[in-house]
Order: sequence, then structure tokens, then C-alpha cells
Amino acid sequence: MKNLAVALVASLFANVATAVPAHKGAAPFLIPIDNQRWVIGNDVWNMTQGRQYGVKLHYKDRDCVGDAWGHYVSYNGAANDLAWTSASVVEKGEHKGVPFIDIMFTADEGDMHWVIFEGQHGAYQYFVNHNLPTLGEFRTLWRLDNTTFPNGRTAEKDGALPPLSDYIAANKVQDETWLAPDGKSYITKYDWTGWLRKQDYYGVYGNEVGSWYINPGKDDYNGNHAKQELMVHRESSSGDAVQLNMIHGTHFTASSSDVFPDGKMWGPWLWYLNDGSKPDAAARAKKEVATWPYPWLNNKAYHARGKVTGRLVLSDGRPAAGAAVFLGDNNPTKTPLDMGSTYYYTSYADAHGNFEFTNVRANTTYGLQAWSNGPPIADVYTTFLQNNVHIVTKEGHKSTTTHLGTLHWPISNRTRRLFQLGDLDHYSHGFLHGGAPHQHGLVSACPANLVYRIGRSQPSTDWCFGQTHRGNWTIEFFEEEEEKEKDQKKPTLIVSLAGYSSGASTTIWANGQHQIGNMTSGGGAPELQNDPSLYRSATAAGEWRLLEFPFQDVGVLQRGSLNTVTFELTQNTTWRGFMWDSIILEW
Ligand SMILES: *[C@@H]1O[C@H](CO)[C@@H](O)[C@H](O)[C@H]1NC(C)=O
Ligand SMILES: *[C@@H]1O[C@H](CO)[C@@H](O)[C@H](O)[C@H]1NC(C)=O
Ligand SMILES: *[C@@H]1O[C@H](CO)[C@@H](O)[C@H](O)[C@H]1NC(C)=O
Ligand SMILES: *[C@@H]1O[C@H](CO)[C@@H](O)[C@H](O)[C@H]1NC(C)=O
Ligand SMILES: *[C@@H]1O[C@H](CO)[C@@H](O)[C@H](O)[C@H]1NC(C)=O
Ligand SMILES: *[C@@H]1O[C@H](CO)[C@@H](O)[C@H](O)[C@H]1NC(C)=O
Ligand SMILES: *[C@@H]1O[C@H](CO)[C@@H](O)[C@H](O)[C@H]1NC(C)=O
Repeated sequence: MKNLAVALVASLFANVATAVPAHKGAAPFLIPIDNQRWVIGNDVWNMTQGRQYGVKLHYKDRDCVGDAWGHYVSYNGAANDLAWTSASVVEKGEHKGVPFIDIMFTADEGDMHWVIFEGQHGAYQYFVNHNLPTLGEFRTLWRLDNTTFPNGRTAEKDGALPPLSDYIAANKVQDETWLAPDGKSYITKYDWTGWLRKQDYYGVYGNEVGSWYINPGKDDYNGNHAKQELMVHRESSSGDAVQLNMIHGTHFTASSSDVFPDGKMWGPWLWYLNDGSKPDAAARAKKEVATWPYPWLNNKAYHARGKVTGRLVLSDGRPAAGAAVFLGDNNPTKTPLDMGSTYYYTSYADAHGNFEFTNVRANTTYGLQAWSNGPPIADVYTTFLQNNVHIVTKEGHKSTTTHLGTLHWPISNRTRRLFQLGDLDHYSHGFLHGGAPHQHGLVSACPANLVYRIGRSQPSTDWCFGQTHRGNWTIEFFEEEEEKEKDQKKPTLIVSLAGYSSGASTTIWANGQHQIGNMTSGGGAPELQNDPSLYRSATAAGEWRLLEFPFQDVGVLQRGSLNTVTFELTQNTTWRGFMWDSIILEW
């Protein structure tokens, strides 16, 4: 491979002198300028790659980077930008009659590849790990000229990036968040957060140029269905238009510390350039999805993929209709959202509990998990787990199916449910403001005190998605059980949180005077880890947790009268607190 690369570069560009010659002809190219600079591209676009930054992005008669930082790869914020030490063409191929080259830039941590086809507007990119440290955040990104790219578009949000002039230093209220000049709303990059696995295409654009990411695979991302990340924003220190590719993001997780095996590959995804047209980018995204996994990639492990099928049945006989299903770490030690070493697959069961995953990387053993995604099994709070799901492909068979058959999912055996407030689906959906578009500080709009009467109040108006103010949120319910032995039973309170940002502590009471438990980050039982969701514009989810509080005493509930469970928030911090999923009381 090395020899081929050297020969190719030498034969194509034998006369490279100090000044870069204009490249003649349509073929994609890598032209070394010196041992720290290279020009890559084709006759449609080209870019000068330096030791860290890719600049001078020539496209449609303009420099799309200009004074901005350009293209780079970094981990743990901007502190660790990868430094490229060499570049070579490692593959020269042809797909459907169109020639391409695969250019590899090497760094100590791994290799960044640009696959450039003849006449292509943009390039496919992928990164192969060799020596990344245990991480944390890892990303590739473009910081582009802000006059060419005034707007941002994700699957959730589309519009002008707020102008830098609106970021007034004195108005900074927290990390990357400012009170807007109107004195009422906020400006924050977190409002540009999107659900990673639901993105079709996203990027920055103007009237003449659009720069987009299309990632049809998504199995290289960390996390599960609920993975959300920053997609685009205005860089607050420079004004650059930023197009992010958070391939291992941490902005909304409680903990994210993954070890990457040598060879772990992110991508290829498509970095797509066009004239700024969203319909064109949307059409291109459909085409990419239809052609993934990419047949032109010369990588045996990438193409070894299989299919997995099965049927999930709850222990009470119901099919696990609509359940969220997930293929992740075998014998997991992390939550699905916090996993991120290798490859992860998300799907949903159908109405009969049948599920399938396609194009699953083979020669790997996974842990299969499933949880309720709402009705008709919104009562289920247990999570299904089956380890040792081994995916094989037979040599020469493109896709071999692993049939898991019928899988039995144990659910709660407690016989009577006194109440359930909210569907159990791991999101705040269904409550007031639950799942609203990403917006800073929305939880402040929830009341300090409220009373919710089971059977009379409505979740969508009378219970809010998050609790941040000091005060009491009380659930009232009638207990009418006639059984004698009831006095001997101790109920259990189940609290399913869609997220929690530390700095808020709650005491849970039954009938105002029996302390049932605590929810806090400060030494309570159980101790809750912070996730940044609530103060970073999330309204639907952060890190999901399930807490069980068995009553310590019998006879707490009063038969034939109104009983209460109260969440007394005793310690508060602005924009932090609890995001609700569901609250259940059962015998
Ligand atoms: C890069 O593009 C610019 C603008 O089209 C052109 O002038 C320049 O010659 C190109 N560079 C190479 C190496 O082709
Ligand atoms: C674009 O960036 C420049 C700095 O390079 C800054 O002065 C300007 O305000 C930015 N434009 C917008 C619309 O934010
Ligand atoms: C999968 O593993 C088997 C056995 O270790 C090996 O023979 C085969 O080459 C592997 N296939 C791929 C695509 O890595
Ligand atoms: C409920 O009982 C069944 C039968 O004993 C058992 O298989 C299942 O694990 C139990 N469910 C839970 C959540 O403990
Ligand atoms: C909240 O409820 C607790 C427990 O019943 C009670 O002690 C406290 O006084 C209540 N606080 C307010 C402000 O009503
Ligand atoms: C709740 O916390 C208080 C004080 O921090 C403690 O005394 C009490 O035992 C805790 N209650 C439970 C049920 O954990
Ligand atoms: C804490 O809650 C109280 C009562 O709801 C409220 O007045 C106060 O502003 C809150 N403090 C913070 C820091 O949010």
C-alpha cells in the first residue's frame, strides 16, 4: 500500500515545486507542499491541510474557511487537536466507473481518511483509532467562514445562527449561555442540540454554499436511541460558523469514559458540499442511506455484517410492543447512553414484539437490552438484558441472520398498582413542556408547588416535565383496598427519572410525615450522578435512572381516604433538578 501511494503521488505530481501548481484534469489528488502541508481535493473543490488545520477550502470561487479555523480533529475540547505527521494515498480505486482515492493523514492517535471521488462535491471521511486515550469527547469539525454560512440546519432546528454581536460578555449566565439583548430569552449553542440517531443531514449554509454531514451508518456513535449532541453553532470566541461531527460526544451524559480498541472505526460518513439547497442535501441523504454500508471501502471487518432477529414477550404474556431494543456492550458495566467503545445498534419492536437489527458488525458478542418506549407497555419499568449475543457471518455470505427466537422479559410481580403518573418511556414526553424543542432554562417555567390528583388531573397540563424550584409537588390518590392483609403490606414507590442535573435535593414523603426516601447528589441513598441535560437546553431526556423506594413501615396508607406522596425539593440551583419520566406506587 505504501509503495502504491508513493508511486501514485510521484507519478501524478512529479514536478511539485515550492508553489502549488494548478492541478490539470478531473482526477482527485493529494499534493504535498512541504512536510507539513498538503493540498487535497478534485476539480470541484480543494483544501490545504496543515499540521492541524485544514484551511483554504476552495469551492464555488470562494474560500469557504477564510479567517475561520477550518477543519480539524480533536478530543477533550480544543485542548487536544490531532497533529498530522504524514499523508499518503493508501487506496486508488473505482466504483461504478468513477475513480477515487483514499488519502490517509496519520497522527499519533490514529488515521484520518478522506475518500475523494472524481467530480465529487465533498468527500467521505473516516477515522481509524490506533492510540486514542480513554475518552471523553472525540470529534471532527469544520469552522467555516461566517459570511458564506450564516445559517444552521439540523433535523430539529433551522435558521440563522445568532450573530456574534448578540453575545454580550456581561450577559454570560453559564457555560456558553448568554442572556439575549432583549433581556428575556437566551442564546446558547445547546439550543442547536439534536437527536444523533434521527439526523438525516445537518450543517451550515447560505445562499450559495452549503456544507453538510450525512452519516447513514450511526453504529459508530456512542450511546443509544436517546443520544443527543451539539450539531452546529456560532463559535462564541471567534464568530466562526461551526459544523460539528460529535462522533463520541459527552455533552448530555452522566459519565463517558471509553477505551477504544485499536482499529475502532468511525465512519465513513459523507461531508457534502452544494449550493446551499436543503432539498438537494435531503435527496443526497436518502441516496447515502440506500447505499450504506459503502461497497467501495476496502475493509474486511467493515463488510462482515449480519442480521439479528427475535421476539420479546413480557412475563405476563403480552408482546413487548414498540419496545426500544439495543445491541450494546456484552455484560454491560455502563448504561446504554454511556457506552461507546465499539459499535451500537438501536431499533424498536413492532406491535407483536418482533425486532430486527440489520448490518450489525459481526465477529462480535453483544449484550441485547430492551425497555419500554411507552404505550402499550408504558407500565413496564424493568429492563430486559440478554448477554452473549454473538453475531457471525459465513465466509462468502453477505448477510447471515442470527435468530434469537422468543425472549422472555420479566416484569414486576407486585400484584397491585395504586397509581402511575406518566408513561414509562425514559422521556419526559406527556408532561407539560416535556419534549419541547431544545430551549435553555425551560424548567424555570415549571411551578414551585403543585398538587396532582390521580384520576382527575392531566399529565400534559398538571404535572411539569422538570422540578427545579424549592417547594412541594404532591400526588393525591384514593386508597380503597378492602383486603385485610393490606395492613401487613409495604408498598414500593418507583421513580423513573428522564434526567437529573445535580444541585437539587429532594425528600420524599408519604402522607406528609413518613419519610420514604431521598433523591440527591450529595451523599443520599442512592447517590445520583449529574447529567448536564436540564441546564443545557434538554427538555425530553438526559441520563435515565430508575429508583425504588420500599416503604419501611406498614400502615402508612389510609384506607378509604385521600393519601399523598410528596416530592419536597429542599435544595435548589438555577436550571438544575429532576426531569420526570414516570412515578409508580405498587404493592
Ligand atoms: C484549488 O482551487 C482553486 C480555485 O478553484 C484553484 O485556483 C487552485 O488551482 C486549486 N488548487 C489545485 C491544487 O488544484
Ligand atoms: C463573523 O466573524 C467575525 C470575526 O471574524 C465577527 O466580527 C462577526 O461578528 C461574525 N459575524 C456574525 C454574523 O456573527
Ligand atoms: C471472524 O473471525 C473468524 C474466526 O476468528 C476469522 O476466521 C474471520 O476471518 C473473521 N472475519 C472477519 C471479517 O474479521
Ligand atoms: C416474576 O416472577 C417470575 C416467576 O417467578 C420470575 O421469573 C421473574 O423474574 C419475576 N420478575 C421479577 C422482575 O423479579
Ligand atoms: C412540604 O411538605 C413537607 C412534608 O409534608 C412539609 O413538612 C413542608 O412544610 C411542606 N412545605 C411547604 C412549603 O408546604
Ligand atoms: C434521607 O436523608 C436524611 C438526611 O440526609 C436521612 O436522615 C434519612 O435517613 C434519609 N432517608 C432515607 C429513606 O434514605
Ligand atoms: C429556589 O427556589 C425558591 C423557591 O421556589 C426560589 O424562590 C429561588 O429563586 C430558587 N433559587 C434558585 C437558585 O433557583
